[in-house]
Amino acid sequence: MDGKLATEYSSWQKLQQIYDQQHEQLVLKQLFAESKTDRFQQFSREYKSPSTGDQDRILLDFSKNLITSEVFEQLLALAREAKVEPFRNAMFAGEHINTSEGRAVLHVALRNVFASSGKQFQIKEEGADEVQGVLDHIKQFTNSVRSGEWKGYTGKAIDTIVNIGIGGSDLGPVMVTEALKHYSKRDLRAFFVSNIDGTDLAEVTKQCNPETTLWIVASKTFTTQETITNAESAREWFLESAKDKAHVAKHFVALSTNTKAVEAFGISTSNMFKFWDWVGGRYSLWSAIGLSIALVIGYENFEQLLLGAHEMDVHFAETPLEDNLPVILALVGIWYNDFYGAQTQALLPYDQYLHKFADYFQQGDMESNGKTVTKAGQFVNYETGPIIWGQSGTNGQHAFYQLIHQGTKLIPCDFLAPVETLNPIAGGKHHEILLSNFFAQPEALAFGKTEEEVRQELGAEQSKNEALVKSKIFQGNKPTNSIMFQKLTPKTLGSLIAMYADMILTTLVSVLAEHKIHVQGAIWGINSYDQMGVELGKVLAKNILGQLADETKVTGHDASTTGLIHYFQKNRK
Ligand code: F6P
Repeated sequence: MDGKLATEYSSWQKLQQIYDQQHEQLVLKQLFAESKTDRFQQFSREYKSPSTGDQDRILLDFSKNLITSEVFEQLLALAREAKVEPFRNAMFAGEHINTSEGRAVLHVALRNVFASSGKQFQIKEEGADEVQGVLDHIKQFTNSVRSGEWKGYTGKAIDTIVNIGIGGSDLGPVMVTEALKHYSKRDLRAFFVSNIDGTDLAEVTKQCNPETTLWIVASKTFTTQETITNAESAREWFLESAKDKAHVAKHFVALSTNTKAVEAFGISTSNMFKFWDWVGGRYSLWSAIGLSIALVIGYENFEQLLLGAHEMDVHFAETPLEDNLPVILALVGIWYNDFYGAQTQALLPYDQYLHKFADYFQQGDMESNGKTVTKAGQFVNYETGPIIWGQSGTNGQHAFYQLIHQGTKLIPCDFLAPVETLNPIAGGKHHEILLSNFFAQPEALAFGKTEEEVRQELGAEQSKNEALVKSKIFQGNKPTNSIMFQKLTPKTLGSLIAMYADMILTTLVSVLAEHKIHVQGAIWGINSYDQMGVELGKVLAKNILGQLADETKVTGHDASTTGLIHYFQKNRK
């Protein structure tokens, strides 16, 4: 960042000029018409796992963004001018880039353990050489609990685990255990307690047997009020049955950097899984904080999750900026956040297993980039981190898509979907319908529906109703990214999480701060009781559904939607 405000970069100023002079001409319909089929080719990239290739590939289609080659080039120039590459390399080298706390930022070291992957970063930082030892501890403990070898105080095997933690010590494990439920051990129940509201703990203890429950106290600092209070109450609940404090050792383990506080709590260090202060809370699921994940999906799957993240780290570290998925996502995000003034960004996974994905990245992004001051101590004069939110498709379509389609705010969206489902349901309709919606929504958002089209649809008589005509117009030109992955494997999930985390980091370099809150008031004069905006996507999805079976039937779409559907058709099994 070299002490400059982002607005001082010449590439930033050039982008501002392009925006001022051209943004009215940046109309997706025209951009696609002008470039014919090239636009999908030009603005999409495919990542493949170096070890498993097609099985763990990710396609990023960013062609439905309000960009031209010139904008993309300038965004890349901004990344170069803001020294994204040296900053990234400094992180991988273990330099103390967290300057306010004087720490390295080394969550990447937690997955830098695969000598066979062909690439290991040379990281020199205290503790980095202990990572494998902690993983071995996790492996041995996980195997012993899952096999039933680890016994509770009455000699019974563990059938329930409860993770007590909050923020990064909760959201990552919650999101990943949900995302990888397909791979879970069904007879080992997992609960998560985070809220200081006693209801959270009480509702869990009602479902637990003290003889067969393992409590995992997850806290980097081991001082967080919610976590320690909940852990103390859980211990009291346990001792009401177990009586003898010596039994705590069989039922409580700690995940922390703070050995002294863990001991003071009464958990022996042999039941402590260590990590280090260079692991940020919101990037900690790869560390000991991931113990609940390993217990739920098994150590081998946990290791695959780490490998997927490591492979994405290598992609991030070695791929030229113009082909680098996290960098592209970050730059496109900056274009809307800082030039178009978009306040929020939606993450919309069309995969039920990813229903906590947006919650997790809400902390990841907003806690990371919701800042006002640059590293050099200057107040920023531009927007920083966006508001991150979202929900799984198609549920979101029936909740908030109306506003994205026809409301007054610009909301750039990331759509994510697997080519293959993990749960094919007899008859085969579910996944096709799901994906039809995944294809249709970005298409509807981008290309909308014109007044002429509306009038044609309504016919002469109904078209006399001008208000009705207007309410059915979709302006379109709403930007989206479409991300398709082959299927939700532990490795692919690891890569996806790392991709977004690296994106956050990239953004952080160029835009280290402020978050202005705009409070708006208006007398809107709208009909709050209709929902015309959900209609177009529905119609398009129905049309696409009829085309999915046969490649030759895929007609009437822009190059991006056609490209995405063809991608799905080519790669499905
Ligand atoms: O919300 C602040 C925060 O420090 C997060 O960054 C962190 O993930 C969370 O609290 C929990 O902290 P700890 O793991 O130390 O209990």
